[in-house]
Amino acid sequence: MDRIRLIGGNELNGEIPISGAKNAALPLMIASLLSDEPLVLQNVPRLADVKQLERILENHGVDIAVHGRRRGEEGEGQRMTFHAADIVDTTAPYDLVSKMRASFWVIGPLLARCHEARVSLPGGCAIGTRPVDLFLFGLKELGAEIDIDEGYVVAKAPKGGLVGAHIKFPKVSVGATHTILMAATLARGTTVIDNAAQEPEITNVAECLVAMGAKITGIGTRTLTIEGVERLHGATVDVIPDRIETGTFAMAAAMTGGNVLLKGARAEHLQAALDILARTGTALSVEPEGLRVHRNGNGIQPVDVETDPFPGFPTDLQAQFMALMTMASGTSQIRETIFENRYMHVAELARFGADISVDGQLATVRGKAQLKGAQVMATDLRASVSLVIAGLAARGETIVNRIYHLDRGFERLEDKLGRCGAEIERIAG
Ligand code: UD1
Repeated sequence: MDRIRLIGGNELNGEIPISGAKNAALPLMIASLLSDEPLVLQNVPRLADVKQLERILENHGVDIAVHGRRRGEEGEGQRMTFHAADIVDTTAPYDLVSKMRASFWVIGPLLARCHEARVSLPGGCAIGTRPVDLFLFGLKELGAEIDIDEGYVVAKAPKGGLVGAHIKFPKVSVGATHTILMAATLARGTTVIDNAAQEPEITNVAECLVAMGAKITGIGTRTLTIEGVERLHGATVDVIPDRIETGTFAMAAAMTGGNVLLKGARAEHLQAALDILARTGTALSVEPEGLRVHRNGNGIQPVDVETDPFPGFPTDLQAQFMALMTMASGTSQIRETIFENRYMHVAELARFGADISVDGQLATVRGKAQLKGAQVMATDLRASVSLVIAGLAARGETIVNRIYHLDRGFERLEDKLGRCGAEIERIAG
């Protein structure tokens, strides 16, 4: 299994291009199931999760083509066509779905277009139980009949297809919002989704669906209204830049010191995190080409944080922020409100000498001036990268084991950091 070796202590200086957002690319790819015409996506990141979803879509009968990959362009996002002319199989099998939770979301489009779907219950990062009750609630509201059979969700639409409904989610869920939004585009009549997720990735998908002919209003708000149409057509859509990658590199620069331009980053997609970073003493400025992050060597101020659905502070940046707080000049408190078991990185950060105690959803971080390099183990996607940024700031050598989680969500991480002065390498094996 590959490992990452790094020697900490160098400042980060230079430019880092921000890749297309994984969490937008995945549902956009799934949206291709809704139409028999091609959906062209631009700026798709080269990630293991994208590859895995390609396998799942191919199993349903989607033809996938990657265009214009030329020598020297490896660093640029892919332009890909997804053509679901004919859905040949409405089952998403366990061995494909169990590797990635988002693949469960195919249930929405399959049910809307083919009126039936059989999808394995999902896997993904081990960050809590992550049930699917909200998905099933929403699909039932649209008239679907749902059974659970040998680990599979078996869903059937009523005769004539799904029917529009007023759906009020009791809890905000990104995945359930994507799924019901996609399903409702082809339902008969009007669907209203109350308490919808407002993440920028939802907006990216909603705008893609509109470009495909869907009728959606309220995009970017808590209430989405979808008037079902008979069919959707092809479109060409850009994947938005990855706000979690942006925030991760911003926190890395805040921790190591230096001056980095995050090219293509969109500050409005992570304003809450940037406001918090500014309070830690990090200088941030929006420039025509992206976001500049600068630390001039002054100490890192402790700041308390609570994770929340967008526009709040993202749970996907909680581990990275905790890494930063381990070097703050005082004590900070972090409250995780989205997932019940998302502190696996705490034990690993302790190997660097960090002083963190956890009581339920609340973590108390007592900052110290210097971390020391260590052997650590990546546990989930975002936790893994918090160990990398801690290693960048720690004194001496760090080895991060089990980095396959990183490859699921971060494109060319070592390369991007290495070009800015980090001493970092991948050790194969
Ligand atoms: C998405 C993101 C993930 C991010 C998360 C929260 C993708 C591919 N993944 O995951 O990176 O951390 O949003 O911003 O976009 N829940 C239920 N029942 C359900 C569904 C969810 O109780 O049926 C709960 C979850 O257990 C969790 C909370 O709702 O506690 C939020 O989860 P959700 O927004 O659904 O996360 P994902 O869509 O899986």
